[in-house]
Amino acid sequence: MSVILLPQNQFHLKGKGFSYIFGVNSFNLLTHHYYGAPLPDETDLQYLYQPHRFNDYTAQIDGTQDRYSAVYPEYPVANYGEFRDYAICVEDARGSRVTDLRFEKAEVIGAKPVHPDGIPVATGGETLAVCLFDAVLGLRVTLYYTVYADENVITRRAAIENCGNSPIRLLRALSASLDFFDHDFTILSLPGEHAAERYAQWSPAVYGRTVIGNCRGTSSHQNSPFVALMRKGCTEESGEVYGCSLIYSGSHYECIEVDQYGKTRLLTGIQPETFTWKLDVGEAFETPEAALCYSGEGLGAMSRSYHDFYRNYIVNPNFVHKKRPVVLNSWEGMHFAFDNKRLMAAIDALEGSGIDTFVLDDGWFGARNNATAGLGDWWVNTEKLPGGLKEISDHCRKKGLKFGLWIEPEMINPNSDLFRAHPDWTIHAPDRKPLVARNQCILDLSRRDVLDYIKQTMHRVISESGADYIKWDANRHLTENWSEMLPADRQGELQHRHILGVYELARYLTESFPDIIFEGCSGGGGRFDGAMLRFFPQYWTSDNTDAHDRSIIQFGTGLCFPLGCHSCHVSVSPNIRNGRPISAVTRAAIARQGVLGYEFDPLKVSEEELAAISETVKAYRATEDLILEGDLYRGENSVQNNTMSQTIVSKDKSRAVSVFYYALNNDNKDRLMKVYGLDPNRKYRILETGDVLSGAVLRYAGVPLKKTKSDFVAYLLTFEAVDSLEKV
Ligand code: GLA
Repeated sequence: MSVILLPQNQFHLKGKGFSYIFGVNSFNLLTHHYYGAPLPDETDLQYLYQPHRFNDYTAQIDGTQDRYSAVYPEYPVANYGEFRDYAICVEDARGSRVTDLRFEKAEVIGAKPVHPDGIPVATGGETLAVCLFDAVLGLRVTLYYTVYADENVITRRAAIENCGNSPIRLLRALSASLDFFDHDFTILSLPGEHAAERYAQWSPAVYGRTVIGNCRGTSSHQNSPFVALMRKGCTEESGEVYGCSLIYSGSHYECIEVDQYGKTRLLTGIQPETFTWKLDVGEAFETPEAALCYSGEGLGAMSRSYHDFYRNYIVNPNFVHKKRPVVLNSWEGMHFAFDNKRLMAAIDALEGSGIDTFVLDDGWFGARNNATAGLGDWWVNTEKLPGGLKEISDHCRKKGLKFGLWIEPEMINPNSDLFRAHPDWTIHAPDRKPLVARNQCILDLSRRDVLDYIKQTMHRVISESGADYIKWDANRHLTENWSEMLPADRQGELQHRHILGVYELARYLTESFPDIIFEGCSGGGGRFDGAMLRFFPQYWTSDNTDAHDRSIIQFGTGLCFPLGCHSCHVSVSPNIRNGRPISAVTRAAIARQGVLGYEFDPLKVSEEELAAISETVKAYRATEDLILEGDLYRGENSVQNNTMSQTIVSKDKSRAVSVFYYALNNDNKDRLMKVYGLDPNRKYRILETGDVLSGAVLRYAGVPLKKTKSDFVAYLLTFEAVDSLEKV
């Protein structure tokens, strides 16, 4: 059983390797007690609380004891007896911003309800619903906790209902709050930028607030909605760490606060700076879901737990376990410079390469000859493609290939017929000229008319295209958060309503075309988040295809998201973005750490290169199941030490594939790869060398790798168990 109900309204959530304990105290406040290693089922931790000096707002004016600030609320409120950051702030019709949530009831509801607004949430699990009530406001907050007996993750979200007599406004409604009794944590976060997404950052949790997140209307390149708190001494293989991954694609907020008592609070949810929500009488609002993960066995186990959880309960179930296409994407090789003849010649040239899908990227529609025009005009540019997309997709099929197509449904160029017809359809501020970024504006998908138009348009485009694969891009972030259709007191809802529109569009199209695989993209990996993975089983991880930079980006991405969701292409050398020359072997080895694909102009590739690609694809197919289903064990990873290494091991530990990447040559250093994650008691054959070594030897002694006289060298090793050491 995952939810254990104890006497006196105490609750024990027990997953595979953790306990999460909280309960109602004598003041009827829902109070956090413990999150960490598993404890006996009946553990009651109410005794843990000690009063604090000075700042205790413990009594009401009539003398009633009400120990408020000394407790660790499961869902902290603003402005009532404590000063730490909070999960909810409600403004009533008189402008008061005080909320006081007291326990009302709790029940195990088994399967939790789907999200009423269509935000992707994890399926399955056992759910405890705890209702809190503010009698003055008539406000009910239901906290949903979902536990999975076989997972190390719990999910949390909150439903907020106005049961009072007058409208209220939510100024903040976060998904989860977590209090710790200590503060010696290191914060692991994933900041970044375009072409450098999810560059892992470690920083101390200092007194005061560390705020992560953004206001860009998207989960963004700049800060992934993920944070982990590592207890002192936590390493890759041991120690305690708490992960927090928000399953949401809009502006988000993560705050880590260490208070005067040396306690730590972690909060996550929708970014309050760009959010308000009016609740008329009887209306409700529901937050996105946060996925919390505890590992007592280091960072590696946390990542593996998240990977299992995402694969089992979030990522699009139609594709998550299926072999993926190996694509040639036209973007880096051709950009906008193509017509039907060139495309068909390129398709012909792929023969024998092992690549099975040709993806036509940007430039096939409207007046889209560069990035300044045409977005929004979703009809085929017949000057370039007189036979339409059908000619191209038919040609692909004739050559035994599948066909893929790029779209960017949420965006519009001011230089487009759609904009000229509907200038008011964009997100823009009244009486101000709309700002453009990458020459484009954003369609206001909070509007029903705009959303319906783009749903129908994209449905037509996809139906007519003959595509088997769609790459869905989104190349700008939101500013001027205002909508023509919302009343003044609801303008703060625009960003969230817009992202709900994006979900509706994505759900409609992926459900209308269940056999088409959709790959997500947002200027590279700018919206690579858990919610998007429900629709897009894989995500273009970055516009940066340089293997060195990718080793860092993919490392950061893999901290939370399964490798089968990372779309990774081999591109040409020197890299078109940074000019770095890297060998074909290294480029392929790094791209094989995710879903493999290619970016090049097939008309500029030699026969030898095509033959080498075919070998790579064959080798990738032989270990693809490990990428899709395996366990990731990171080895040495350090930008300073020049190395990135990891092993992906089958669940039964009979097979594995490892990469060891060495950035800058240092002839004084040995190149020794330690292989993590194998069974120490089994013997493994290294397919590349024929050597047979035990899992223990591979882990602790390692395999020497041949030194080379070049930089940016990657080694790939494949392992197969041949024996059990017990017999030796
Ligand atoms: C974005 C994507 C690229 C490519 C271009 C096309 O930058 O990330 O992969 O599709 O748009 O304009």
